[in-house]
Amino acid sequence: MTTVTAPADAAIDCTDLVRIFTADGIEVQALQGLTLRVESGGLVAIVGASGSGKSTLLGILSGLDKPTAGTVTVAGRDLLALRSRERVDYRRRTVGFVWQQTSRNLLGYLTARENLALAMSVAGTGDRDRRATELLELLEVGHCADRRPTEMSGGEQQRVAIAVALANEPRVLLADEPTGELDEATSAEVLEAMRGVNRELGVTTLIVTHDPTVSEHVARTVQIRDGRTATEVLRRTGVNEEGHEHTVAEEFAVLDRVGRLQLPQEYLSTLGMRDRVRLALEQDHVGVWPHVADEEERP
Ligand SMILES: Nc1ncnc2c1ncn2[C@@H]1O[C@H](COP(=O)(O)OP(=O)(O)OP(=O)(O)O)[C@@H](O)[C@H]1O
Ligand SMILES: [Mg+2]
Repeated sequence: MTTVTAPADAAIDCTDLVRIFTADGIEVQALQGLTLRVESGGLVAIVGASGSGKSTLLGILSGLDKPTAGTVTVAGRDLLALRSRERVDYRRRTVGFVWQQTSRNLLGYLTARENLALAMSVAGTGDRDRRATELLELLEVGHCADRRPTEMSGGEQQRVAIAVALANEPRVLLADEPTGELDEATSAEVLEAMRGVNRELGVTTLIVTHDPTVSEHVARTVQIRDGRTATEVLRRTGVNEEGHEHTVAEEFAVLDRVGRLQLPQEYLSTLGMRDRVRLALEQDHVGVWPHVADEEERP
């Protein structure tokens, strides 16, 4: 049993986030009105094609970058209102990160235990030795405590990196492609380790990944397309007619605050929908039809 605890009232709340980068006089809209809410203690995977805005979102949530427009609250803190000293404090105490490059997460000349001790001394966490041992054991890398990163496998390094990210008792854990450099079996282990941490410590966790199998490990997977949340896959455990438990995965379109939703490209092209559609409210659903112009309307 572990006694490591983290506050449970954390949540992520982004509304209409826009982030425009200007490079060589050309504007790139990395986020185009992204809205996302993650409940306290939730575990969510963000998937999306390269360039869809995933890292831009994490940069904002981690306090490294600021949005061009929109609002963002993490663990009750309005990130746009933070002054520079509060921003440093936010980064040290409220959030933990894991990066894709194993080498970026750990200092190569320190052992696992020393990497954790350093992170804890920066955050001012107490009872460091006991907490370091507990976290390494929670992530099943207790045997790596006195090893340097070069003496560990890639998967062990990433599990130690998760322990380091948790050293400051963060309310929110952010991971950008934590399994990007790992093979399939090791990726599954690291994702399971993150799920375990989320369950044991109640840390709100957001994992960005290219890995399409991630939705097998988490209950909620959000897909970002063109800087906006487009669809979500929710998994739940159901019971079939013979009484056996099985997992049901359902895909949903995301409906934003003002009622906008994105229809899949395949539906649009199959039914030749463009510019405008007819809507009808039915008893328990909404019908959407392509607009076919009447004879009189035609030129
Ligand atoms: N600092 C920057 N300056 C200019 N453009 C940027 C900058 N950072 C990101 N972009 C652009 O914003 C868009 C989104 O980039 P982002 O890194 O968020 O994508 P991503 O979903 O993380 O992609 P990947 O899966 O390849 O990591 C891209 O078109 C990228 O070129
Ligand atoms: Mg990225």
